[in-house]
Amino acid sequence: MEHKVQQSKDATSRRSFLRKGLAVGGAGAIGAGLLANGVPAFAEEESGGLTPGDAAILRFLSAAEILETDLWQQYNELGGIQDSEVPGGSGIPGYIAALQVLDGDMPQYIHDNTEDEFTHFTFINAYLVSKGGDPVNLDRFRTLPSSKATGAQQIGRLTNLMQLTVDTSWWTRYRSRTQNPDFGDTFAQAIPGLSKGQFPAIPRSDADLKGFKPGNHPTIPDHLQAIANTAGFHFGFIEQGGTSLYPSLAQRVTNPEVLRILLSIGPTETMHFQTWHDKAGNAPALTDPTNGLVFPDLNASPFGGEDFQTNLIMPEPTIFLSRKFPVVSIIRPTETQGAAMGALKALTADGLFIGQSPAFFAFLQQLAQQADAA
Ligand SMILES: [Fe+2]
Ligand SMILES: [Fe+2]
Repeated sequence: MEHKVQQSKDATSRRSFLRKGLAVGGAGAIGAGLLANGVPAFAEEESGGLTPGDAAILRFLSAAEILETDLWQQYNELGGIQDSEVPGGSGIPGYIAALQVLDGDMPQYIHDNTEDEFTHFTFINAYLVSKGGDPVNLDRFRTLPSSKATGAQQIGRLTNLMQLTVDTSWWTRYRSRTQNPDFGDTFAQAIPGLSKGQFPAIPRSDADLKGFKPGNHPTIPDHLQAIANTAGFHFGFIEQGGTSLYPSLAQRVTNPEVLRILLSIGPTETMHFQTWHDKAGNAPALTDPTNGLVFPDLNASPFGGEDFQTNLIMPEPTIFLSRKFPVVSIIRPTETQGAAMGALKALTADGLFIGQSPAFFAFLQQLAQQADAA
């Protein structure tokens, strides 16, 4: 018995403590372990019961949600509905008209997605505080410029929506029946031009609205429509990221309540993603005369078929865990190892952080590394 209690004292985490404590056979041994050196065996947990790993995962998610909120706020100021729920900005009629080519309800959807992101980080931060943890605050990094277009607030931003390189392979990834990014597979771009170069997803200034004429049948120049199309595909990119991030990180939380938080927020990202996947398919085919960016007709050759057809917005079943299993309709990827750093890399490659300081990248990398070490 002496030896077995010693094992409990050596426990280095709640999980290993519980495993060893249970292994020696019951509550008596666990009690001995708790009191063995006058320090509770849960001392490595932060006060209130969060393990360092759970706290690190929540802190990374809070940071990701703050970044999401910042970019969605910019979309809402110019293309959404500005009200008491999501204040700021006054909208740009030409940009809104171009977004509404994708769906007449785009301003409402942008508003609702923005409000959701506000609540995600606000809740996670409040939960961290309630457990004695540190909330995440990125305010010191609000250094990037706002759009100069009439309608935007002139405040410092965390994210840059004016030089995006949008990875549109989420489009084909969710249509493949034989491949899965967790198996190392790569996927074709829906909009090859968007994945190379740098493009605005919001008007940068009033010059981007040149030629727009309002009315029941507004005149929308191709350059302005291309900006709205870019936003449409960017919405899908952002929200599919959240769709994968939550299940990827949920696999490594230990507290059932923290798991409940991840399992309850994550699927709202998926609801956003599904909506944006549908709307992106309505982006009209065109070529931006100012920069040559091409939005192809995804329903016509050489596109079209199961990989590109615009009404195929639900996930095709594909391989999962092992090829020995039957295919299944799933979120992809969901590999947990390196998931936080992978998300940070994807957002960085998107161009969202162009102009950010080395201190910003260092802080986010630290949060991601700590989450991935959980
Ligand atoms: Fe979110
Ligand atoms: Fe989101």
